[in-house]
Amino acid sequence: MIELPKDKSIAQRCAVLNLDFDENFIGEDVKNTLHAANQFAEYDKDLTLNLGNSGTGIRLLTGYIAGSGKKCTLIGDKSLSNRPMRRISDPLNTWGAKISLRESKYPPIEIAESKLQSKFSYELEIPSAQIKSCLLLAALSSKTKIEIIEKIPSRDHTERLLQECDAEIFRVGNKIIFDGAKGITKKFIDVPKDFSSAAYLIAANILMKRDIPLIGIGVNKTRTAFLDVLEEMGAKIELHNDCIISNEQRADITVSSNKNLEGISISGQRIPNLIDEIPLIAIMAMFAEGKTTIRDAKELRYKESDRISLLLNNMKKFNPNIGLAEFEDGFEIIPSKNLNNDSVDLETGGDHRIIMSFVIAALVTGKKINFDETESVETSFPGFFEVIKAWYQ
Ligand code: S3P
Repeated sequence: MIELPKDKSIAQRCAVLNLDFDENFIGEDVKNTLHAANQFAEYDKDLTLNLGNSGTGIRLLTGYIAGSGKKCTLIGDKSLSNRPMRRISDPLNTWGAKISLRESKYPPIEIAESKLQSKFSYELEIPSAQIKSCLLLAALSSKTKIEIIEKIPSRDHTERLLQECDAEIFRVGNKIIFDGAKGITKKFIDVPKDFSSAAYLIAANILMKRDIPLIGIGVNKTRTAFLDVLEEMGAKIELHNDCIISNEQRADITVSSNKNLEGISISGQRIPNLIDEIPLIAIMAMFAEGKTTIRDAKELRYKESDRISLLLNNMKKFNPNIGLAEFEDGFEIIPSKNLNNDSVDLETGGDHRIIMSFVIAALVTGKKINFDETESVETSFPGFFEVIKAWYQ
């Protein structure tokens, strides 16, 4: 059986909420968030916490700490230090927090002592689970009420965890209503395997025509739009042993594909539910028939790297004959079979998902890639190269 890491989104939420879970097989992001959350729980105030590369960790902890009213500074590595943070500091400051950012935009995030108002209502401008979760966690630690209007749905792990821990949270249409005053009951959380890590092996199974099952994967509906995309591209997906554990759906996934994949056009509301899989979809598009277009995905530029620009630069190096167009919010790929098989040097931007996506491309073509580094794969998928070697090479 292929061993996959625990879901990075859910595990980091458990870490911030101080909920017990099995800490075996977690990536660097989860380790960093756990360490920072434990330091905060133990030492309480006036700390500097280092979140490494974890965008989820820094944004969720900022909410939780700002709500607690305590003073704290949050920092990260070079990539995290250049990711936008006003998306969380603006609503928190309007609510009553005192947060300042480097150049009013980036980490370090300095949180001064403050008290949030007893009620806050916020309409999400960016469909982001990190912003939503940051605000929900601030309501919990400040014991206040929040209403969040979410026009475009994003992953709902925080809502589910709070519900699992008996919090007073419910949804009416596109509004999430949460009263943090009642607190939560601490429980052990059984975290499923990470769907976004499984995605690379799902792609490898399809492109390499293997049928290796992936067991116990989190298949929360707000995360699995990638499976719908694969079906539309022509793959066959089967879920078995579907069940709900710790308020999250999980299943075993088997995939197959008898015919060639077809290109696809993706935009609008679907994007947030497959945002982390878009680099991989771009790779699959290189081996499909016909054009693939991704739009409304400007958020890709603010991830661990500018994923639109890095993806396109690397695809061009990987196959100079490919047809590519870059848009501010996406790209277009016209595949070409004319692969030149010399080895190629690719720039990773320290981004785990760029590396893992191109490893799949290398598997399919046999082309050798020299990455400028591969350590960042550890942020989400320790053991990725060993799994690829053992099962797919
Ligand atoms: C995450 C939310 C997404 C995703 C990230 C993890 C989370 O980011 O890209 O990898 O755990 O909430 P956004 O909230 O910025 O969309």
